Amino acid sequence: RRILLVNGPNLNLLGSREPEVYGGDTLEDVVALAERTAAGLGFELRAVQSNHEGVLIDAIHDARTGTDAEAEAEAIVINPGAFTHTSIALRDALSGVALPVAEVHLSNVHAREEFRHRSYISPVAAFVIAGAGIQGYEFAVRRLAAILG
Ligand code: DQA
Repeated sequence: RRILLVNGPNLNLLGSREPEVYGGDTLEDVVALAERTAAGLGFELRAVQSNHEGVLIDAIHDARTGTDAEAEAEAIVINPGAFTHTSIALRDALSGVALPVAEVHLSNVHAREEFRHRSYISPVAAFVIAGAGIQGYEFAVRRLAAILG
């Protein structure tokens, strides 16, 4: 059983990027936490990070059953980064694969600039976690595992 973790643009810079907003943990720390949480619940985690919208869309498509057994997943945790606020294509990819989606943001996007208040992703997500830092990824994996049963 597998959960796909998708991190979008600029999240490769975690740890050094605006630490006052995003904290000091690195992407490696995020992936390790999500992996550990998933493993404890009997799931394998496949982690993908890209700064390219199309690569993220391909990773989401690959989670579908019947395409690539190695990439198949039962649910998706995604921090779409700034694509949250711009990408209809990413949203359509998520609707297209019809898997339960957890939208995660390290920062509380609602307490920040107006342009971060709108998410194209939230309407197709099972739930949204914002402002819980890297723990948000742990919560997301736990909740998805509960939903999947
Ligand atoms: C983010 C919030 C987005 O607005 C921003 O563009 C990011 C990170 C977060 O995790 O808080 O890149 O998704």
